[in-house]
Amino acid sequence: MELLRKAGYPEKAIDYYMRRLNVGVIEGAEATDSFTGLCGDSMRMYLKVEGSAIRDAKFQAIGCAGAFASGSALTEMVKGRTLEEAKKITEHDVIRDLEGLPGPKLHCARLAVDALRKAIDSTAKKGPKNAYESLAGNAQRGFEP
Ligand code: FES
Repeated sequence: MELLRKAGYPEKAIDYYMRRLNVGVIEGAEATDSFTGLCGDSMRMYLKVEGSAIRDAKFQAIGCAGAFASGSALTEMVKGRTLEEAKKITEHDVIRDLEGLPGPKLHCARLAVDALRKAIDSTAKKGPKNAYESLAGNAQRGFEP
């Protein structure tokens, strides 16, 4: 912890990192995808979505303290927001929420944001599958294609 302080991490970021806040998996998440940053670290986001609102968010990461703190902050920030609203959150919003990050770690917030945006986009990719499922549902109810 002292090392993180000396590296310039604010208390909020250290707290999130130490508690691994929202680290985990959401089984059957409506939205999930992963992103690998230029540094080689990667993050997978899981969103529980009802209608267009995000009810829960978790993440897994292979990365630094900055990545974990950013993932925690972002998953907290998106709860209760619509997918549209969540997609507008930037790395600057994440850094502000964390009350800063050390200079060399500012890009770590971008990893979380990019993983979130990919997860949100994954809901659009599910379109054909959902269409197929609704067709199958109609077939069960006697729908003739
Ligand atoms: Fe890669 Fe922090 S150094 S996410």
